Amino acid sequence: MKQHKIVFTDTPFETVELPEGPFLADYLTAKNSPVLFGCRSGICGTCLIEVTPLEGDLPSPENLEAETLTLCAPSNLKARLACQLNLTTSISLKKIKSL
Ligand code: FES
Repeated sequence: MKQHKIVFTDTPFETVELPEGPFLADYLTAKNSPVLFGCRSGICGTCLIEVTPLEGDLPSPENLEAETLTLCAPSNLKARLACQLNLTTSISLKKIKSL
């Protein structure tokens, strides 16, 4: 299975390598990470992060994630919800606060 790096920007958390697959939340819950989760369904915005792909592109947000992002981080084009993001490439991520 293909592995992807997760670089945690602006934190002392070490880079991890995780297998490609659905929902980053499943992996980050098991690993030590700065990302906290609430609803895990794309509604609460607790897992709001700023993501930069390190290679390739990320899949676009589905409708529910896009709707929540317009409320939580309307002007941040890098904002994503970790609980809704499929891991398809190496990324750097930073926990950000909701508006
Ligand atoms: S944990 Fe609630 S939106 Fe991700």
